[in-house]
Amino acid sequence: MLLKQQVLLRQKLFVLGSLAIGSLLYLVARVGTLDRLQPICPIESRLAPPGLAEQISLRTLQYKRSLLQELRKGNATKEQIRLHNLVQQLPRAIIIGVRKGGTRALLEMLNLHPAVVKASQEIHFFDNDQNYARGMDWYRGKMPFSFPHQITIEKSPAYFITEEVPERIFKMNSSIKLLIIVREPTTRAVSDYTQVLEGKERKNKTYHKFEKLAIDTNTCEVNTKYKAVRTSIYTKHLERWLKYFPVEQFHIVDGDRLITDPLPELQLVERFLNLPSRISQYNLYFNATRGFYCLRFNIVFSKCLAGSKGRTHPEVDPTVVAKLRKFFHPFNQKFYQITGRTFSWP
Ligand code: A3P
Repeated sequence: MLLKQQVLLRQKLFVLGSLAIGSLLYLVARVGTLDRLQPICPIESRLAPPGLAEQISLRTLQYKRSLLQELRKGNATKEQIRLHNLVQQLPRAIIIGVRKGGTRALLEMLNLHPAVVKASQEIHFFDNDQNYARGMDWYRGKMPFSFPHQITIEKSPAYFITEEVPERIFKMNSSIKLLIIVREPTTRAVSDYTQVLEGKERKNKTYHKFEKLAIDTNTCEVNTKYKAVRTSIYTKHLERWLKYFPVEQFHIVDGDRLITDPLPELQLVERFLNLPSRISQYNLYFNATRGFYCLRFNIVFSKCLAGSKGRTHPEVDPTVVAKLRKFFHPFNQKFYQITGRTFSWP
């Protein structure tokens, strides 16, 4: 009898203990939400002094995630939108490319900043004639809800290489900030190839080897008709953009460094966007299983990028790699010269 009572008591204690831990975790997750349900004030006065970045991360980012995600899901009421003065804003900065440069990682990492709101999907407004014909209200309607002081960022890597895009973006906002993330051109081309190869394999289709596509079999020279090669000639594309925007309106992100040591790259972007430095080492942790940095929003929520980011590349014939690197070399030099950012690409 006594033993049975003891077992019952222990079970009750276990249930109560679990409830207490659950409630505590819930409270921790909600604390930012409650805190940010204050009237909106200019960002400078809301942000804690430097050094408290980790606490900022916990409180503001949790809030941003919970409320804005509800909004994105369409769960927010008109009352909430009005109460919080939420708006759908055109982007004040766009990650225009380069495909496979690390555009998704850059967008997700910038979204760690409390003053940044990302458009989750690639919108393809400026590079797709059909979308562009839908007009600016359609584009704005694709943007997430945000507080007026926040900046919206979208990324569509096809913008960088599409002829019509610079003029179209210029017509929308001639002072917009433009972000370009680049990787060593040959690695980027192989990454590009790997993505297409995976798509073909998924559909049980065969595909040529990278070497066959990248080198013209008749001339044994680099095949400049191959899109993955053309996209990596960064300077050619940038020169088209410079007909519309001064070089100061671009910021070049080192995509190779974003993989190995993301924080300094993100801090440079914060500065370019005139944002206070709020992304800290706390927000980024290396996940050995993934082999990449992942994102920590707070003690409860963290995430890595999808498995489609960070694919294993096929082995490429070293002579082809050498040929491509030699081919890209003069274009790279020009790119360094124009942008004022030098990389140690071979
Ligand atoms: P690979 O798949 O070739 O490794 P994009 O988002 O523009 O398509 O770029 C994809 C690339 O982002 C990946 O190329 C990967 O190397 C890079 N990347 C940078 N930081 C990453 C991160 N934290 N997690 C996953 N991939 C990352």
